[in-house]
Amino acid sequence: MTRFRTSTESAREVKADLLIVPAFTDGDLGPGLKEVGLADAYAAARLTGKKGEDLLVTRRDGDRFAAGNVLIVGAGAKADLDVTAMRRILGRAAASTRRFPTVATTLARAFGARQAADAVQAAVEAIDLGRYRFDRYKSSSDETVLRECTVLVAPRWDAKAAKAGAKAGAIVAESVRWARDLVNTPAGDLPPAEIAREAQRMSKEVGLTCKIWNENQLAQGGFGGIIGVGKGSVNPPRMIELRYTGAGKRTPIALTGKGVAFDSGGLSLKDGPGMETMKCDMGGAASILATMRAIALLKPTINVIAAIPSSENMPSGSAQKPGDVIHHRGGTTSEVLNTDAEGRLILADSLAFLVEQEPSCVIDTATLTGACMVALGTDITGAFGNDDALTQELVAAGTEVGEPIWQLPLWSDYRTLIDSKVADVKNIGKRYGGAITAALFLAEFVGETPWVHLDIAGPAFHDGAHDLGPAGATGVPVRALVRFVLDRAAA
Ligand code: BES
Ligand code: MN
Ligand code: ZN
Repeated sequence: MTRFRTSTESAREVKADLLIVPAFTDGDLGPGLKEVGLADAYAAARLTGKKGEDLLVTRRDGDRFAAGNVLIVGAGAKADLDVTAMRRILGRAAASTRRFPTVATTLARAFGARQAADAVQAAVEAIDLGRYRFDRYKSSSDETVLRECTVLVAPRWDAKAAKAGAKAGAIVAESVRWARDLVNTPAGDLPPAEIAREAQRMSKEVGLTCKIWNENQLAQGGFGGIIGVGKGSVNPPRMIELRYTGAGKRTPIALTGKGVAFDSGGLSLKDGPGMETMKCDMGGAASILATMRAIALLKPTINVIAAIPSSENMPSGSAQKPGDVIHHRGGTTSEVLNTDAEGRLILADSLAFLVEQEPSCVIDTATLTGACMVALGTDITGAFGNDDALTQELVAAGTEVGEPIWQLPLWSDYRTLIDSKVADVKNIGKRYGGAITAALFLAEFVGETPWVHLDIAGPAFHDGAHDLGPAGATGVPVRALVRFVLDRAAA
């Protein structure tokens, strides 16, 4: 367990194995560099504060600081430093300093008192997430636990706000780590029933109400999409229903996420490379579970319900076939022309189920389409919705936490592309606009309820390291969703 704390100690006094201080390019040395007496050494090393530059100084007799080591990181121009830039700089720095069990930083002090809570939260998230590794399956690991993380704050800051920022950062980072662990775990070890068990364990720990629907209950309840996608697998499907009650009887927000435990494509089988990373296809589900976890611990004044469908998409003698017709929850029928367009089939059921509960809005997140990845690349989440104000709320939440979200059009003219000859709708459109036709399919199941769909096919899982972590699961969009819910609770 990591101890996250704030402190008004000076950079010189703080005792940590590692102290991270920034250096800026524009004359301003940055908080801490002068205090630790390393400004001259930094200049002598011919470093100028450009991003990417760093200098590690190990304490020797006569040095003017108490930390074991000081890492001076180039932070660019001070004028360009916002909370998002700081999070990225610290995340990168943290990744290379995992051998130090106790870490402190002065970077948050580059901000004004008004931003105290935000800056501290971002610093904590960056350090904890930047150090994340998934080595459960390595026979030897060089994992060093982060014992203590200290964010040095300015004495004139509101101490309570700073402390709250540290606490929120710790909760959010821990939840994101948990989501990453779930997604990185091989599908062979995490079938739907295991995902449900993890959800149950988590719910008990943080105090959420949790109900698991098994395959019989799902069939009884008319969840034809969740059943249909799971039919080819020996691992039966589940649906995870979670409730957070922070505001009595008030109308809840509703969340759902795609939980395809493994996406082989089904009978419309993917090729080898196409399924290499398809354990990530429950990334939406994991992000909703982690969001609910964080909310349960942060305790905002709001109600949130979640229904998370999980099936394994496999080919076999019992698998659903192209041409099959599904009866979804609520009665809408869909024709399955490609069994690899399976995410929308399970989300159709969970969206219909959530809308029955009359929430104020419903948000879904899913590794839904390769097309969205083609459109926006690996870093940006695509957002579609039937309510522009709500969609922009999510875009704004993403901007606030440094998880970019970009609105794409729910272009109603394309609705005819998913007209079916035999059912209400078919599960694929034409070749172009695949992210849009997938979103239009989902829109069929939300009626008039304000709804946003987040396509995370790109950002959920990365080939290589990024600012806030290594290759593999990123935990996107947990931080944006938590922010969205907190902002709503505060509004
Ligand atoms: N899970 C995939 C989408 C995906 C692809 C996520 C790559 C992450 C990385 C989804 O189920 C899928 O297979 N979509 C198809 C839809 C097509 C058959 C209409 C796709 O995008 O090719
Ligand atoms: Mn698929
Ligand atoms: Zn899929």
